[in-house]
Amino acid sequence: MKYQNDIILRAARGEQVERVPIWLMRQAGRVLPEYKATRSRAKNFVEFVKNPDLAAEVTIQPVDILGVDAAIIFSDILVIPEAMGLPYQMIEAKGPWFENTLTSKSDIDALRIADGNDLSYVIKAIELSKKGLNNRVPLIGFAGAPWTIFAYMVEGSGSKTFSQAKKFLYQQPQLAHEALEKITQSTINYLKAQVAAGADMIQIFDSWAGVLGQEQYKTFSLHYISKICNELSPIVPVTVFAKDAHFALADMAVLSCNTIGIDWTINPQDARIIVGHQKTLQGNADPCLLYAEECVIEQEARKMIQAFGKQRYIANLGHGLYPDTEKHKVKFFIDCIKSL
Ligand code: CP3
Repeated sequence: MKYQNDIILRAARGEQVERVPIWLMRQAGRVLPEYKATRSRAKNFVEFVKNPDLAAEVTIQPVDILGVDAAIIFSDILVIPEAMGLPYQMIEAKGPWFENTLTSKSDIDALRIADGNDLSYVIKAIELSKKGLNNRVPLIGFAGAPWTIFAYMVEGSGSKTFSQAKKFLYQQPQLAHEALEKITQSTINYLKAQVAAGADMIQIFDSWAGVLGQEQYKTFSLHYISKICNELSPIVPVTVFAKDAHFALADMAVLSCNTIGIDWTINPQDARIIVGHQKTLQGNADPCLLYAEECVIEQEARKMIQAFGKQRYIANLGHGLYPDTEKHKVKFFIDCIKSL
């Protein structure tokens, strides 16, 4: 066996496991004082992401400190817009901000199709993380889904509705497809470079799936996610996580991916019926569960495993950890899952 612990890869491939594997979205982040200490050594978030030594350090922290079954490379989904020509900033307490956004055909014509060379700092961070992990656990690579990336590139910041991005779909659908195609090609190049550098599995984050209706979701999001799955799944296990996309589960079940991530609004048994038995499910605890007393966390962890079953399942939250979660509660939740 290549890894001391490869349980997550076996679960993704649908092989037998002796216990349920677990990692947490946003595990490399602000719930760890150790993360904050490393982050303070960089000038700002973008510089932090671009520093392979620091990025590798925080990638490994959750494996050492929390005992998760996989590391996820510390980076951000917004490195793709930057590599394509739209740089971003991360504004404290506010979130992402883009000086330039996509509005017209000339903006989209000007976008470059990125590849691994444009993101050499992430590739370097992956190589360093692999060295530091020393085959203890696998490393997860990731990218945003084209729709979510497009949404940020049009909107220029976070938004509750992403109404500017949706307006674009209604007013200039052909142009939206051109942009989505360029983002998709860039993402495929980028993910292949991550795998070549050592990423053992890949997750696609469609954080803003839930603002689209079912038909638009198929046309403007799943169509492109499917292209990424077709290119990547022959080489590594692929997970698709689409937040608030319960309406799309049946369509996601036919993607060529190994794992589907679900949020806490979806009942595990319903998800299994819709998705069938050919895929692994991942999720789906409410991140707010980790504010509860330990006895409640334990009870809910037990219910979650009973509902999903031990095989073809990877435990996780239904979205990223909230920054004000206490580290000992996060550790407690992970230990519960591993002991059940
Ligand atoms: O999961 C991990 O631990 C790996 C690292 C990771 C980050 N961002 C680091 C980060 C991953 C996988 C992401 C993905 C990401 N980034 C998504 C998809 C997942 C999701 O949450 O829906 C999205 C939408 C983004 C864009 C983004 N990055 C936003 C909206 C924000 C600000 C708000 C927030 O969630 O903090 C970020 C900043 C960011 N990315 C932080 C981290 C650790 C916090 C920055 C800090 O240190 O202050």
